[in-house]
Order: sequence, then C-alpha cells, then structure tokens
Amino acid sequence: MKSMLKSLAAVSVWVAMAQSGWAAIQDTNQLPQGKHVFQQWCAACHAPGHAYPGTVALEAKYKGALPDALEERTDLNPQMVKYFVRHGVTIMPFFRKTEISDSDLAALAAYLTKGKK
Ligand code: HEC
Repeated sequence: MKSMLKSLAAVSVWVAMAQSGWAAIQDTNQLPQGKHVFQQWCAACHAPGHAYPGTVALEAKYKGALPDALEERTDLNPQMVKYFVRHGVTIMPFFRKTEISDSDLAALAAYLTKGKK
C-alpha cells in the first residue's frame, strides 16, 4: 500500500511537470501565432507609418507621448487589447469570435503585450 501511494505521488508529480511544461510550450507558441493574427486583422490599420488610419489616429490621440504603432507600445495589457478587439472604437470595427477566436485573441493579446499576464 505504501509503495502504491509512493508511485501515485510520483505519477502526480510527473503529471504536474508535464502540465507546466505544456503550458510553457503553449506560451512560447502564442507569440508567433499572435503576430500572425495581428498581420491578418490589425496591420492594415495599425502597421507603423502614415498610411495606416489606426496608427495616424493614435498619433493624434497621444501626440508622441506613446508610440503610434501598436506593436511598439509597452503600456498595453491583455484585458485592454481584448476589450478593443471585441468592442471596436470610432472607425475600428469590433471582431467576432468567428473572425478572431478566443484563443487567437489570447495569442494576439500576448503578442501585443510581450507575454504580460
Ligand atoms: C479599420 C481600421 C482598424 C482596424 C482593422 C483595427 N483598428 Fe485598432 N484602432 C483603429 C483606430 C482608428 C483607433 C483609434 C481610435 C481613437 O481615435 O481612439 C484604434 C484603436 C485601437 C486600440 C486603442 C489604443 C489606445 O491607446 O487608445 C487598440 C488596443 C487597438 N486599436 C487594437 C487593434 C487590434 C488588436 C486590431 C486587430 C484585431 C485592430 N485594432 C484593428 C483602427 C483599426
């Protein structure tokens, strides 16, 4: 019985390790996935430069106090990114789950916040 408990404990430690390893793998995969989502849905308005309405609008809003290109911001947090994506703002449309799924949005938020929680 004692040895069975021991092996059970060993198995649960192994499961916990496997799970945290998996989470770490998922986290590192999120950034390239998030970049892909950004390029597909956001770059048309938020790429760096004066040809992009989102970048131009944010330049006017912050007047140089914050970078105008979203990918250069360091103050964004995942909740904020998710809010704007699901609700839109002025000319920015909101995006449905059939366009950007919850997991794509999580990856996008991780990408724009450099993995901040
Ligand atoms: C049709 C153009 C357009 C698209 C596509 C677009 N945006 Fe925007 N976005 C804007 C504009 C314009 C603003 C600024 C609105 C304003 O004046 O406050 C904005 C604002 C934002 C803000 C708020 C930033 C701030 O500091 O106020 C976030 C975050 C944002 N967009 C994220 C995204 C993400 C992520 C995507 C892709 C899923 C995206 N946007 C797609 C046009 C767009």
